[in-house]
Amino acid sequence: MGIAYDPRERVFRLDTPHTTYLIGIVDAEGFLGQIYYGPRIPADPMRYLLRLEEPPYAPSREPGERVSFYDTFPFEYPAWGGGDFREPCLRAETAEGGRRCELFYQSHEIFAGKKPLEGLPAAFGGECTTLAIRCADPVLGLQVCLSYTVFEDVDVICRSARIENQGAAPLTLTAALSACLTLDGRDFDLITLPGAWAHEWRIDRRPVASGRQGAFSLRGISSHQFNPFLALAEHTATREQGLAYGMCFLYSGNFLAQAEPDACGKIRAVLGIHPEGFGWRLEPGEAFQTPEAALVCSEQGLGGMSRSFHDFFRRHLIRGQGKHRYSLVNSWEAAYFDFDHDRLLALGQKAAEAGIELLVVDDGWFGHREDETSSLGDWYVNEKKLPGGFRRLGEELSAIGVKLGVWMEPEMVSPDSDLYRAHPDYALQTPGWAPAQSRKQYVLDLTRREVRDCVYGQISAVLRSAPIVYLKWDMNRVLSDVFSSALPAGRQGEAAHRYTLGLYELQERLLSDFPDLLLENCCSGGGRFDAGMLYYSPQIWTSDNAEAIDRLTIQEGTALAYPFSSMGAHVAACPSHTNCRSTPFRTRGHVALAGCFGYELDLCKLTPAEFAAIPGQLAEYRELGPVFRDGDAYRLASYSENRSHDALLAVRKDRSLAVLCYVQVVSRAQRRSLRLPLAGLEPLRQYRDRRTGETRSGAGWMHGGVLLPVLEGDHQSLLVVLEGVDGAAEGG
Ligand code: GLA
Repeated sequence: MGIAYDPRERVFRLDTPHTTYLIGIVDAEGFLGQIYYGPRIPADPMRYLLRLEEPPYAPSREPGERVSFYDTFPFEYPAWGGGDFREPCLRAETAEGGRRCELFYQSHEIFAGKKPLEGLPAAFGGECTTLAIRCADPVLGLQVCLSYTVFEDVDVICRSARIENQGAAPLTLTAALSACLTLDGRDFDLITLPGAWAHEWRIDRRPVASGRQGAFSLRGISSHQFNPFLALAEHTATREQGLAYGMCFLYSGNFLAQAEPDACGKIRAVLGIHPEGFGWRLEPGEAFQTPEAALVCSEQGLGGMSRSFHDFFRRHLIRGQGKHRYSLVNSWEAAYFDFDHDRLLALGQKAAEAGIELLVVDDGWFGHREDETSSLGDWYVNEKKLPGGFRRLGEELSAIGVKLGVWMEPEMVSPDSDLYRAHPDYALQTPGWAPAQSRKQYVLDLTRREVRDCVYGQISAVLRSAPIVYLKWDMNRVLSDVFSSALPAGRQGEAAHRYTLGLYELQERLLSDFPDLLLENCCSGGGRFDAGMLYYSPQIWTSDNAEAIDRLTIQEGTALAYPFSSMGAHVAACPSHTNCRSTPFRTRGHVALAGCFGYELDLCKLTPAEFAAIPGQLAEYRELGPVFRDGDAYRLASYSENRSHDALLAVRKDRSLAVLCYVQVVSRAQRRSLRLPLAGLEPLRQYRDRRTGETRSGAGWMHGGVLLPVLEGDHQSLLVVLEGVDGAAEGG
């Protein structure tokens, strides 16, 4: 495992436990080409895959066909202007308007470990090796350092690029993407995660067609419309078999994730900051660092790809992974804006009675906020609602054994707020235009240090004012009027990325000043559910739609890339506030069990039977939840595909325990049990079904399957727990 360079072949070899990635230096000029990325292979000479012996040949052999070479060669980091008309990773413009850029190999370095990326989320830790390849454009004086890190314990390769202007004149980067893959030899399907508010992440799979296709955001956030993720799976690949590639962006702003076949049928897949509207000026000596992209290749189909991402994010990206995830009750769907100290305390008392650990005071506690129309930016407690503030509430809750959490929306300002009246210029706005409102609010210009300092001063004062252990950092609109008064003319193409950098800086400060705080990010639900935010917060509120049946598909889509440990999942009120559906309390508990568990309802309004069920749900969360959050997940059946039932299996890493969450979404007339083959167990180990005491080998459960009884009616659920039995003799 690791990284090696073969000077004879001029090939870089990157190995993860089960995959190999090969890069070749070509020709005396030093083009850098992607030779291979796929399942692990021995050290065979693989340069033949570059097809250099076929027309149009390398330019040294056929200088008269340089453009044709450019348009077919599998560039490792393609640049624009010489004749490669596929989507480039790099575009640079000179002051005169020159737009040609070319990169040639210069030197490289292989070292143990991985350097952090200043100001950006970045994978870290463990046994890993990094390759840094320096390339240069000899005319522009641009140097690009391509970084690749391989980890010894996960099948992930991280890529990013650092672009430095070593010339004498300023340049503007108009594209600076993070990663590029070239795939061919198979029929591929493209898989993206499109969505909408309250309907995050439907798995969209279709054959790659001609032209450019994929996912993107230009909304300033990674968005509800598309997740910054893309997969290419061979057409025959299934959930657990076949070749699947995944690309995930460790970034939270505008992005492009795109696949594009060329004339020869090779697919170029790129991932990075969306070039539209992007322009980054580099004075001589200045550098631009792209965000990082994580690449996965799996022979175990989409399930294998997802599990690699889950392991990678949990071990090498989410810094707060080990933090305690409180069971909580959130005031939002319990009370909306309609609460005061006594109502919150009553909710807290109910939480204490049921054994819930944390009460989160959501929107409505600050300024004079009674609805959406005011007070964002005025982060001081409304003493009319909460006399004595959070200190008093926190102490009273603490006395009954409940901790306090708080909601804030730090990036926003209401037109009706003291902050906006004092500093109207703090809002993002285009000169001459009144900024466009959304949810009756403006976005603060986080590109400006004084704005960030002002926001940070307020957040930290709130957190210091009381024993607050949890912060839900919300963000409830897209960015419009992306113009920063801090940037000179000609540099507004930097504003959107600088906003994201400002956001990261704020959250970094928060983590370093409040290391014990549990931060949960949220963006009207999953509008910024991305690997960038997971670097700062170990969990994200998955969707404003917490209704259990819709959540099946939302959590399935989210889990294609992100671990269950990162998903806020609550038992919500019935009928659902988002889709009016009523589901049994038990089913709501089972569906939420996989994520970071809580209640999104008024505990005081539950029926006695529902309330009495909470301690049991919490016990399940404590005992079985970790199997979903830390173990291996297998999607056995999907409601989004078959429209009748859903089955998610999680297996503890040591294979000693498996939990199946089965939901009979629609009751059907054919009243026979459903046979469901399991996965992920040790074939020769004995496993006992806790419900029935039945004991069989792992192979028996996996091939024979479990028989799931017909449940009484729609939306019913069942947990099947299989315990590994020590001593193979038991059960026969
Ligand atoms: C967003 C969040 C909700 C809630 C409200 C409060 O919609 O996603 O969970 O916090 O804001 O305004």
